[in-house]
Amino acid sequence: MRGFGAGFALLCAGCSGWQSAIDPAGPESRNLQHLLWLFFGVSAAVWVLVMLVLAVALMRRAAPSTAPLRPGSRGERGSAIAVSAAVAATAIVLVGLTVGSYRATSALGARGDEPLMVRLRGYQWWWEVTYLDPLPERVFVTANELHIPVGRAVTVDLVAADVIHSFWLPNLAGKQDLVPGRDNRISFTADRPGIYRGQCAEFCGLQHAHMSFFVIAEPPADFERWRSTQLQPAVAPMDTEQEAGQQLVTGKACAACHAVRGTGAVGTLAPDLTHVASRTYLAAGLLPMTRGSLAAWVADPQTIKPGNNMPAVPLSSDKLRSISAYLASLK
Ligand code: CUA
Repeated sequence: MRGFGAGFALLCAGCSGWQSAIDPAGPESRNLQHLLWLFFGVSAAVWVLVMLVLAVALMRRAAPSTAPLRPGSRGERGSAIAVSAAVAATAIVLVGLTVGSYRATSALGARGDEPLMVRLRGYQWWWEVTYLDPLPERVFVTANELHIPVGRAVTVDLVAADVIHSFWLPNLAGKQDLVPGRDNRISFTADRPGIYRGQCAEFCGLQHAHMSFFVIAEPPADFERWRSTQLQPAVAPMDTEQEAGQQLVTGKACAACHAVRGTGAVGTLAPDLTHVASRTYLAAGLLPMTRGSLAAWVADPQTIKPGNNMPAVPLSSDKLRSISAYLASLK
C-alpha cells in the first residue's frame, strides 16, 4: 500500500513543473487543459462501457444450438437495435468532442487589448526573439528567452528561417508550427509569475532535441526594468582583459555572424550577444549561463552541439580567457 502511495505521489509530481500541459499558468493553457480532461473522461467512460458489455456478452453466451438459423428471429432484431444504438452513441460522442475541440482552439487566437508583440524566428537550432514596437528605437533583438509581463496578453509571430520548427509552451499555450514562407501566430497570457520551459516540437535536424527556450513571466515593473536594460547598447569593457576580449569578439570571426549593439559587430546570422550574459541559458537551453560555459562553447561548439553552424575558431588560452571575460560582462 505504501508502494502504491509513493507511486501515486511520484505520478502527481510528474504533472506539475515548468514544462507541463496539466499545470497551466494562464487562461489559454487552462482552456486546453479542460479539453484534455474532457477527452480523457469521455474516452475512459467509453472504454469502461465497452469492457462491461464485453464481459456481459462473454458471461451470457448461449449454449451452441444445432437448430438451423431462422432469419428475422427475435435475437437478431435485438442485435440490430443494439448496434444502431451504439453507432448513434458513437456519432454523438464524436460530434460532441469535435465541437468541444473547435471551441477550445478557436479561443486560442483571441487577443487581449494592446498585446505585447514579439516575433520569434526559428533557426537550426535556436530562437531569435524580436520585441516589436511602433517606435523603431524600442525594437530590440535577443535570443532563446522571452520575458513577459504577468497579466498582459502576448502575441508571438512565428516565422522560420530554414526548416519547419514548432513552438510548444505547454504551461502557457498550445503548439504552433513555424513554417518557412508562412506567417503563423500564437497568443497567450501568463497569470502567475514563473519560468516556463518551451521546446521545439517538430523534428528539425540533428540538434532538434537541443532547441528549447524559456519564458520568464514577471510583474510588469520587473518586465519594464528588463526591457529598458535590453534596449541599452552593450556595456563598455571594464578592464584590459575584457577590452582584449571585445577586440576579438568584434573583430572578424565572431562579428561575421553575431551582433553586439554599440560595437562594430553587426552580424545577423547567429544570436545577438549584446546582453548574452543576462540570459539564463546558453545554446538554446543546453548550458547554464556561466563564464565557464561561455569559454567551453567558444572553445569547442561542435563537441557540445554537433552540427550547429558555429565553427570552432582556434584560439590560444589567453584569447579564450579574454573572450569569456568580455562575454560574461555583457549583462
Ligand atoms: Cu526546431 Cu525541432
